[in-house]
Amino acid sequence: MIAEPETTELNRFSRTLTQEVTNPAAKAMLYGIGLSEDDMQKPQIGIASTGYEGNTCNMHLNGLSVYVKQGIQANGLVGLIFNTIGVSDGMTNGNDGMRYSLPSRDLIADSIESVVSAQWYDGVVTVVGCDKNMPGAVMAMARLDRPGIMVYGGTIRSGHYKGQKLDIVSAFEALGKRYANNISDEDYEGVIKNAIPGAGACGGMYTANTMASSIEAMGLSLPFSSTYPATHEGKQEECKKIGAAMRILLERNITPKDIITRESLENAFAVVMALGGSTNAVLHYLAIARAVGINLTLDEIQAISDRVPLLSDLKPSGKYYMEDLLGIGGVPAVMKYLYQQGMIHGDCITVTGKTVADNLAEAQDLDFSTQKIIFPVSQPIKTTGHLQVLRGNLAPDGSVAKITGKEGERFEGTAKVCEHEGEVIEALQNGELLPGQVVVIRNAGPKGGPGMSEMLKPTSAIIGAGLGDKVALITDGRFSGGTHGFVVGHITPEAFEGGPIALVQNGDRITIDAVNREITLHVSDEELADRRSRWTQPAPRFAKGMLGKYIRNVKSASEGCVTDEA
Ligand code: FES
Repeated sequence: MIAEPETTELNRFSRTLTQEVTNPAAKAMLYGIGLSEDDMQKPQIGIASTGYEGNTCNMHLNGLSVYVKQGIQANGLVGLIFNTIGVSDGMTNGNDGMRYSLPSRDLIADSIESVVSAQWYDGVVTVVGCDKNMPGAVMAMARLDRPGIMVYGGTIRSGHYKGQKLDIVSAFEALGKRYANNISDEDYEGVIKNAIPGAGACGGMYTANTMASSIEAMGLSLPFSSTYPATHEGKQEECKKIGAAMRILLERNITPKDIITRESLENAFAVVMALGGSTNAVLHYLAIARAVGINLTLDEIQAISDRVPLLSDLKPSGKYYMEDLLGIGGVPAVMKYLYQQGMIHGDCITVTGKTVADNLAEAQDLDFSTQKIIFPVSQPIKTTGHLQVLRGNLAPDGSVAKITGKEGERFEGTAKVCEHEGEVIEALQNGELLPGQVVVIRNAGPKGGPGMSEMLKPTSAIIGAGLGDKVALITDGRFSGGTHGFVVGHITPEAFEGGPIALVQNGDRITIDAVNREITLHVSDEELADRRSRWTQPAPRFAKGMLGKYIRNVKSASEGCVTDEA
């Protein structure tokens, strides 16, 4: 990383190119792109867009970046748009594509770090949409530690078919219904054609909306960034306001390390718990914290889950969509309520240049007499958070369960071992998936997968087949934010590293106990030692290319799957 030059000027970094006589080529190029002599005095702001045409979560981001640039220029700054990659979690289709999803987070972080550092930008605005975009962008902003703001592309509007609201998960669950012969061909096609009506990230409290709302709570986005749908006029207005906010950050030299603190990370998780957010938040915030040098632990996340109840009736386990939050005051109204309940720190600084408490002074109050999306603390959906860290002889270094309480808090069953998610679908089609089974999908971890695939297809198929409350699923992979049911992921150590999940055999008894936070394989130590003596590590699935590099560098799920630490 390039060290910060000693100056109080706002063009702390770009002045190296625009003010120093030793960089004539750079200055010539800046004139070449159309900058004026006047522009040479101005701070330069990189605008990083993960926009691309092939995915509804990202298809509009390049357009939003233009609005951001207008706001930047209007505030006496130079805005320069650049692109980085994105990968659609809705289109990665099983192991082959999904292997690239989580690694794409780190590639996005590396890309933004590279451009902003190499081009000497004084600040960065990230315009992001699909799941891995947000944590990747924030990891880069944290590493760079220059004034930065994240703009979320916004949630999608819901689709409609035969009077029913739909989203991406409806499409997966329709497939489960098809396997179970519970849906006609016409209705199946009707769901697929109408589930996704246009631009925006998946519409429930899935990973994208989880990360967007909690990053706003952490203070790195403007208020309402996570609430405005992609196609709402407020989204364009937010983009145009970024320039004024960036100017304040530059003038006061407020950087991500001022904003991302242990307290603001707690605020982020308070919102994740209250809103019923994705298990992926655990992975991503472990990584974001490490990027600013904070050693956040699974036990600290569990402590937040212990004190903040699940309050929202949002999908995947509830009824409502992210777009419905707009009508009741959005994420600021939820945060204000949590602040009033003593569950959020008010004194954390944010990208408005003001504290959380100052920002919330203008937020609406939740009206519990009219809205049914957010429940009061006195009548929560669950008295604790839904994310639970489980340990035991099956996950000595931890695992993460999503237990909303609707599916119960304890499951005991017999193992049905699947070496990849496709085997679950086959078992379902062959009638081999039975009530009382614990499906074990292994060799899906960070190194073994590689890339820790999400299990949305099998979990949705299980739900669609009507087995959601009768079958549990555990894995060293992870889950989509759209997953619900009795599921435990991030089992660490992973099978590829010889974790106990590698030793499970069909028919073994397994207990998942979310009350005592234990996950237990009921096999004697002697038998496990015998099985271990016969276990050999599988060959890595990739030796070269991006996934080969990933296998060599990635840390465990309990360490956030970071790739930039020894
Ligand atoms: Fe992009 Fe769901 S596929 S947010």
